[in-house]
Amino acid sequence: MEGRAQTRFNSEDTPLFEIVFQRIQKSQEGSISFSDYMELVLYHPEHGYYASPEQRKVGRKGDFFTSVSVGPMFGFLLAQQIVAEWHSRLDEKSPLVIVEQGAHDGQLAADITAALHEHPRIDCTLLTYRIVDPRAETRAFLENRFSDSPVRIEIVSTLKEAAAGQGIFLCNELLDAFSVDRIVYSRGEWKEQAVARVDDRPAWTERTLPPSLEPFCEALGSDFPEGYTTEICPGLPHWIQEASGLFESGLWWIIDYGFEAEDYFSPHRKTGTLRCYRNHTATEDPFAFPGETDITAHVNFTHLREFGEAAGLKWLQYTDQHHFLIHAARDWLLSREGKPSEGESAQQLRQFQTLTHPGLMGQQFKVAELGKNVS
Ligand SMILES: C[S@@+](CC[C@H](N)C(=O)[O-])C[C@H]1O[C@@H](n2cnc3c(N)ncnc32)[C@H](O)[C@@H]1O
Repeated sequence: MEGRAQTRFNSEDTPLFEIVFQRIQKSQEGSISFSDYMELVLYHPEHGYYASPEQRKVGRKGDFFTSVSVGPMFGFLLAQQIVAEWHSRLDEKSPLVIVEQGAHDGQLAADITAALHEHPRIDCTLLTYRIVDPRAETRAFLENRFSDSPVRIEIVSTLKEAAAGQGIFLCNELLDAFSVDRIVYSRGEWKEQAVARVDDRPAWTERTLPPSLEPFCEALGSDFPEGYTTEICPGLPHWIQEASGLFESGLWWIIDYGFEAEDYFSPHRKTGTLRCYRNHTATEDPFAFPGETDITAHVNFTHLREFGEAAGLKWLQYTDQHHFLIHAARDWLLSREGKPSEGESAQQLRQFQTLTHPGLMGQQFKVAELGKNVS
């Protein structure tokens, strides 16, 4: 349990706390799962952290950086890889639909479509870029942003609506924003760490595992020290099942920070991977500044693989961003050989280094590539 004395609260916290407390009051156990709490504070339509894409959360003026906020280079390199795949493992004569989920303010879509539009080998009439976002306000913002895009960009609300014959699905830092449940190894068994109301504040409380978490915990076994805490993403199986139905043939690129199970549940990681970000400061306290703080957990890529394969996708590769982007950049790097690095070119090179350097973003971020009916 985290001490209440260490928790700083915001004077504006009342609306979200009231909503959380109402949920707790309605629950039979007097507590709600952490995933329900996270869903409210991140995605409540009015007060949630991600309620509106206009309020900049990503980048220098926001709470955290992503590969997208480094600059257009990330989208440029993904576009090079899209073209390479369309002309090799996919059918270059058939239309291609790129589907992005978790697009936020659409910056990655803007960077990718700009690079595709300029690409000499692309027939843009065969290309559609679809963004999936469940929130009407975000869709309206994106419709407006892309109203005169030279590449066809469509905004839809569900993965089902984004379905196509042939496509490439991509998401950057989507899965780390999915709500997670928390479990703790306590007195010889796994318990759920839920959220209760204590002294008019949300606080951790232990409760018996719900049936939905039992299979995960059984698979984990019992070789854990007292107090070992970790996370499970309950929405992952359903999400990958839905995403797998997007295309009859295509590729799925999932880019995020995370580990395979052995590393994820390693004995030294005894406080789990839950992190909160506000104004570029990381904390482990999800109850402070609700609605102003991003809450994330690392992705368990072994679970992604297991559920992806169960949904009929083939696990094609699991690599880090360094290797994925260096491969995507090969033609661009060759074209630059011997040329001076000045002005825009020097800026591109700096972005490339930030994205790929193993000590910066290159090793921290991983890329899972899944596929269906591709050679
Ligand atoms: C950490 S941000 C990453 C934003 C952007 N992809 C980037 O890399 O800068 C996560 C984004 O995923 C969005 N998100 C979470 N769940 C989603 C869902 N089910 N469908 C679409 N977007 C979702 C959030 O609203 C948020 O904009």
